[in-house]
Amino acid sequence: MENHIMDARWLAPSEPSNKSCIEFYKDFEVDDEVVCATLTASALGVYKAELNGKKVGDIVLAPGRTSMRYSVMYQTYDITDMLKEKNRITLTVAGGWKSLSNHDILSNPSLAKDECAVIASIDIEYEDGTTECIPTDCSWFMTKSKIVMSDPYDGETYDATFVSPEPVHIEPIMYPRCFLIPQVNEPTREKEVIKAVKYIKTPCGEDVVDFGQNLAGFIEVTFEGEKGHVFELECGEVLDKDGNFYNKNYRKAKAKLTYISDGKKAKYKTSMSFFGFRYLRLTGWNGKVNIKDFKAIAVYSDMERTGFIETSDPDLNQLYHNIIWGQRSNFIDVPTDCPQRDEKLGWTGDAQVFCKCASFNYNTYNFFRKWLMDMRNDQRPTGAIPHVIPNNTNWSSPASSWSDACCIIPWQLYLIYGNKQILSENFQMMKYWAEYIVRRDDDYFSSSKEYGDWLSTDVPDTAETRGGTSRRYMAMCVSVRTLEIVTKAAEVLKIRNADFRKEADRIRKKIVDEFFDKNYHLTEETQTANVLAIECRIWPEKNNEFASKLAELVHKNGDRISTGFVGTPYILGALSDNGYTELAYTLLLQKKYPSWLYPLSKGATTMWEHWDGLKEDGSMWSESMNSFNHYAYGAVGDWIYTNAAGIKYDEDEPGFKKVTIAPLTDTRIEHLKASVISEYGLISSEWENKNGKTTYTIVIPDGIKASAILSGKHHSLKAGENTFTV
Ligand code: BGC
Repeated sequence: MENHIMDARWLAPSEPSNKSCIEFYKDFEVDDEVVCATLTASALGVYKAELNGKKVGDIVLAPGRTSMRYSVMYQTYDITDMLKEKNRITLTVAGGWKSLSNHDILSNPSLAKDECAVIASIDIEYEDGTTECIPTDCSWFMTKSKIVMSDPYDGETYDATFVSPEPVHIEPIMYPRCFLIPQVNEPTREKEVIKAVKYIKTPCGEDVVDFGQNLAGFIEVTFEGEKGHVFELECGEVLDKDGNFYNKNYRKAKAKLTYISDGKKAKYKTSMSFFGFRYLRLTGWNGKVNIKDFKAIAVYSDMERTGFIETSDPDLNQLYHNIIWGQRSNFIDVPTDCPQRDEKLGWTGDAQVFCKCASFNYNTYNFFRKWLMDMRNDQRPTGAIPHVIPNNTNWSSPASSWSDACCIIPWQLYLIYGNKQILSENFQMMKYWAEYIVRRDDDYFSSSKEYGDWLSTDVPDTAETRGGTSRRYMAMCVSVRTLEIVTKAAEVLKIRNADFRKEADRIRKKIVDEFFDKNYHLTEETQTANVLAIECRIWPEKNNEFASKLAELVHKNGDRISTGFVGTPYILGALSDNGYTELAYTLLLQKKYPSWLYPLSKGATTMWEHWDGLKEDGSMWSESMNSFNHYAYGAVGDWIYTNAAGIKYDEDEPGFKKVTIAPLTDTRIEHLKASVISEYGLISSEWENKNGKTTYTIVIPDGIKASAILSGKHHSLKAGENTFTV
């Protein structure tokens, strides 16, 4: 049935709401047999729909987060079975996603900066063939909700004693409807429900509950107190070195749930914003805490799980668990850097680093397709790509690696899902960015707004976050790869006049002129410099030399990694593709800081922003920038899928239409298995080391071309299970 949201009017609070949630409602009757009825709704902010006091649908944090000045999604729900003779539709609305948008750009004379707005239509079809539409319009009422404060950073306050003021009629506001679009990606839903596992009386006497898992989502609590009693719950991710509650790393975000009791026992679940947390500090319980009263509900974009890894090594399994939870906590419509502190932003650099691993773990096609729409909308007229999408900053200059997300992500999605649509939708954006690089050239390579090899540990000054590799060198390397991606995409799409190979070669030459000595050796002496030389194909004939230098630098660092956001995703591949598989495994299995497994010794249940967010002695790396739920370093998962288990797709026949299974085994691991559900079915690769022999079990679906390379020997594979012992 057709919906009439485009004929509805925007409703906004008639007086300043001061962050209080607003309830917009209308009573209506249906006096005939209803064949079908739908509710279509959207908001500038976050909305929750209820019909006759019951929640409509299972979507949360609707209408989802987009670059709001260009598109706002709407949802359509089937409400046929919920209708009675007399009905009340209520839409509760908070500033939500709008508060995280660029207010300056959204400003409109009819809508105050911090205010939310809602739009909806109910469409009914009766048995006699007639129809009826109930849109938001002058006939609706508005009142204030008992959720007296809602903010994406500060949390939620529910006052059960609050008596809503007399409802008032509202005049709709003038606001465009043209940017309303149907939901593009999987909506956000409530997923895993986690019970509190432990009550802690901390050394300084505070009441804390522990969920045993860091996550992003809602809090559900049963409250019992006298009328007016105030309960407060503050979020934390780790305890400090003395075992006390710690939340300084949330910076300005208060991340607090406040509940004011009306004297009745009640269960309350937050719903208008999400929290990032593992621990809750409780105020108002006076020591009487029953952990059964506390639940955490993970909330994220409801993508299909497609990838799985399991090994005989409990640490690797925990690392994989942390990667999955890093993704769950940061894939809420937008790939965010972290879900807890005053950011929760779609940092482009982080997303491109993790995109490949994420797309093995889950089917991210619609998720990223939606975000790339936001990115196209936010691309500057010059071709520059902002650092965060949706862009809520006024920075006009791009940043290497971060801005390159506009090419890396569409290309990566094309390789994994084999769908050219993602390239054609984004090609012009990719080309504008390539042209920007070529046009600005030196200016861009030397630009100051660069994050470098963000958070690498190869500089003596621990406060220096941009690492020890020349930013100009890195920008040039990454640009070479970007220009080649755009050229390959143009070839796939058969688009003329988009061959950037010559420009890529020109930049390669520049790199050699500036960063190689007279004997043609790379002068940048960092792990990341050598990793990028290989990954960006700066001088492929010299890959062995770069890999050998890389191995030397890794040994020098005590067989430990020292790369940051830019070098980390490719370091293991740079080693294993060039004869250093054993060393790649040594890095993967390394437990001493800096390493992927070090955080496990500190009880990590998600990926950390810093290699040493919590130091050996339990002190913090820093107060100001120390997230314990940052997925970027989880990129290592893609090496496990594509190298350890060896599931490799083919660039010429992408989307797993053609695969090579080339596992790289290591005697320190007894058993490793990875699988991915492709469009053709399950592809799985497993190996087991026993009594000096390795047994491989490979499962291949019907309808694809598949072969294996096992200990250097080629084998053909048939559909179904294939077993080999070497
Ligand atoms: C974010 C990062 C991001 C960075 C830019 C940080 O505050 O959390 O993950 O990429 O800024 O350098």
